[in-house]
Amino acid sequence: MKKIVILVSGSGSNLQRIIDTCQSGEIQNAKVSLVVADRECYGLVRAAKHHIKSELIPKGKNFSSELAQIIPEDTDLIVLAGFLSILKPEFCEQWKGKIINIHPALLPKFGGKGMWGMHVHHAVIEAKEKESGATVHYVTSGIDEGEIILQEGFAIDDTDTAESIAEKIHLVEFEIFPKAINKILNSHAI
Ligand code: GAR
Repeated sequence: MKKIVILVSGSGSNLQRIIDTCQSGEIQNAKVSLVVADRECYGLVRAAKHHIKSELIPKGKNFSSELAQIIPEDTDLIVLAGFLSILKPEFCEQWKGKIINIHPALLPKFGGKGMWGMHVHHAVIEAKEKESGATVHYVTSGIDEGEIILQEGFAIDDTDTAESIAEKIHLVEFEIFPKAINKILNSHAI
């Protein structure tokens, strides 16, 4: 069984999707072995409901070093699923190739510092973009700059709002996140 550590800051609907798709076999031969949050959030409740070990490390300058100490060495993949702290470059380097993030936009557009959650969708509306989507990418020390693993978009219509875009993006995320994780962990499988 491959071991996945998931980092969360919020509702954790992507965490839920990963738990479910590990159980259903869509993500093959893997389980969520640990959930780490940088604040109190519903993601921790989801972990508890599934009897998955969890830790809360308060966000701040020591987050990355404390995280480095609790992540088991035999972890196969670290997944940022709606995680809002910026990890230190040393941590990203230590786990290079084994750490991924999901971003609610079509990177390289609408990424970088300050581009998270609803801020992204408001910026997309403001820029009168014709499309948006979600991107799964490797985490490097450059914010949202790592190599893209999987990306999928959809057309924005005149009636869309930041809220409706957020909802549509979640649906895209639920599709591409398990696929990307399975691809990385079981590359023979896709
Ligand atoms: C997701 O849309 C994710 O892409 C985004 O936060 C949401 C978390 O939802 N992440 C970022 O903005 C990170 N830059 P969830 O907690 O329900 O999975």
